[in-house]
Amino acid sequence: MKKERSYLRGFRNYHETEALPGALPREQNSPQKLPYGLYAEQVSGSAFTSPRASTLKSWLYRMRPAVLHSGEDELCETLLQSKTILTPPTQFRWNPQPYQTGQYSLLEGAIKYMSNGTAGQDGCAIYLYTATRSMKDEFFVNHDGEMLFIPQEGTLLFKTELGELEIKPGEIVVIPCGIIFQVILLEPRSRGYFTENYGQPFKLLDRGVIGANGTTEERDFLVPVAAFEERSGDFTLFKKFGNHIWKHGIQHSPLDIVAWHGSYYPYKYDLRLFKPMFTASVDHPDPSIFVVLSAPSCLPGTSNLDFVIFPERWMVAEHTFRPPYYHRNIMSEFMGNIEGTYDAKADDFAPGSASLHNCMAGHGPDQETYDHAVKEILTPKHYVHNLAFMLESNKVFQLTEAAYESPLRQKTYQACWKGLKFNFNK
Ligand SMILES: [Fe+2]
Repeated sequence: MKKERSYLRGFRNYHETEALPGALPREQNSPQKLPYGLYAEQVSGSAFTSPRASTLKSWLYRMRPAVLHSGEDELCETLLQSKTILTPPTQFRWNPQPYQTGQYSLLEGAIKYMSNGTAGQDGCAIYLYTATRSMKDEFFVNHDGEMLFIPQEGTLLFKTELGELEIKPGEIVVIPCGIIFQVILLEPRSRGYFTENYGQPFKLLDRGVIGANGTTEERDFLVPVAAFEERSGDFTLFKKFGNHIWKHGIQHSPLDIVAWHGSYYPYKYDLRLFKPMFTASVDHPDPSIFVVLSAPSCLPGTSNLDFVIFPERWMVAEHTFRPPYYHRNIMSEFMGNIEGTYDAKADDFAPGSASLHNCMAGHGPDQETYDHAVKEILTPKHYVHNLAFMLESNKVFQLTEAAYESPLRQKTYQACWKGLKFNFNK
């Protein structure tokens, strides 16, 4: 029988949870003696001096402190690595990743496509993955930044230090910097995307003129309840640190936190709960109305990384070119497709595909979509199956060798615009 998981609700709320009754100390964060003889350990996701409203911290009550996860770390250059190349300013697009033969974990099946900035400081990296086996005796922790996972096929279970999160395609998980986790496949295989955010943590955008409701609702973000395992054996903890992977052998499961309280934790979100705001008359709003999570940069008004979706919605604009308009952008845009047909492209952007339109690279509907959109009789129209997403950054993406040399790269991508005619009718 399928296990029903319970969650706490609320984005960046202060939560408390215990897997055993009385495990959470009530009056102090760090009393002299803790229930069940546990250790108290704080994990800080913001500087001690950050304003209270943006402070991220959790107190963890665990069997062993994290000092026991370290020792002589060994460099492991096989995972999540690919050399960055000199990247031309043109548009790029890739076919979906095929599954490889054999059994391999999400970590082993991840291919780094692009990055910008500096790991651990500012910027981001984007990966595409396939996986055919669960992580069993391996755990992973990212010291460089938080991670956002976007499965396109296959249900995943994230077993983290702070509890378990299950996601299916159409849902996302964010694992904060420094939180140890393991990815379990609940179906024979999984495929999708993930990104590392090296800058400030993701937050929800202010709503401005929209008012107090709409787009993302805090209560739709789900947080795990405490869950621990008491497991001994030979385990490997992989650590991403300074853009390299290190590994260290440990003899216990690091998922040994019995209770915790705080505001620094992993969370999940169902993208279908997003409430799109869109024009009810004419014209086409900017995609900023579809931002789910935003990681601000140091420059006010620009983002180190925005996570944007193009969800199911009614299209009702009259006398309007309805597909996304032709566009050049100072921000750099990576796109993926989770389900259905994206409304700017008639073909060659199947679920699992990827595209990159770097800073000021022109992009927009292909010729077939354009021709259809300018002739279409406009009636209210429902895009039944469409869930695409965009990762947008204020820094240019540098491609990796793996992405540039990939046989999946559509070397004739630009041909989709070649048939657009000279339009100037005096
Ligand atoms: Fe764009």
